[in-house]
Amino acid sequence: MAKLIAGIGTSHVPSIGAAVDNGKTQTEYWKPLFDQFEPARSWVETVKPDVSIIVYNDHAHAFDLGSIPTFSIGTCESFRSSDEGYGPRPIPDVQGDPRLAWHLIESLVLDQFDITMVNDMTVDHGLTVPLSIMYDQPTNWPCKVIPLAVNVVQYPQPTGRRCYALGQAIRKAIESYDQDITVAIYGTGGLSHQLQGERAGVINEPFDNWFLDKLVTDPLTVAEVDHTTWLRETGSEGIEAVMWLIMRGALSEEVKEVYRFTHCPASNTNYGMTILENAAGQ
Ligand code: DHB
Ligand code: FE
Repeated sequence: MAKLIAGIGTSHVPSIGAAVDNGKTQTEYWKPLFDQFEPARSWVETVKPDVSIIVYNDHAHAFDLGSIPTFSIGTCESFRSSDEGYGPRPIPDVQGDPRLAWHLIESLVLDQFDITMVNDMTVDHGLTVPLSIMYDQPTNWPCKVIPLAVNVVQYPQPTGRRCYALGQAIRKAIESYDQDITVAIYGTGGLSHQLQGERAGVINEPFDNWFLDKLVTDPLTVAEVDHTTWLRETGSEGIEAVMWLIMRGALSEEVKEVYRFTHCPASNTNYGMTILENAAGQ
């Protein structure tokens, strides 16, 4: 049977991807951040998940305001990088896992989560930057990827409670999959940032640290944070971090935090990363 082995939380700042693509990772601005990716890269090199479910939000590339699915799963054989205005990123195509994607969709829909099925899509920085953070510039990405896109762009976004429950249902779905593969799940986005409007530039490190602490010990308290609080405390784009609750919900009740750091600023964002493993025997 398939086994969920770990959860990774990471911001998905697009200029991190641009730094990798343009050979700027060792500059004065980026080196202090990229140095802190090294332990995460060593960790992933050791655990080598066969498949990564990447929970991310599309930023008006695969979807626009014409249709906005709350939760959707990509079923394609492979996914090209979106053209975000400067051409698609010069990265390998992301290989999907249609068989597992359809299993997840079936299991989740039968479990009352009405997932939109996406059979033709590109993937933007929300998904590709976390891959670059973990794997740098490989010829081919070393794992298959299932894109799980969440609407955090247009009100009303799903609640934290709903995201956590979806994570729990994903765990159940993985554990009922008939192949001996290992699966990692990523929650991406955040931490605090606001890209436009009067409060552009909002950063709230105390809230972000509270979020990272509670995600480990008491995720249900984070799941109760309402939309207005996310907005007030973390800025209009900080609510992206609600997607980390899907990752956390898929893990065991107790988890072992094997790595964590924050770095401020990374572009407009307080960058955050956490790596969580299921507690022994859970
Ligand atoms: C930035 C962060 C994001 O999450 C995003 O989607 C776009 C831009 C930033 O900090 O620049
Ligand atoms: Fe984003």
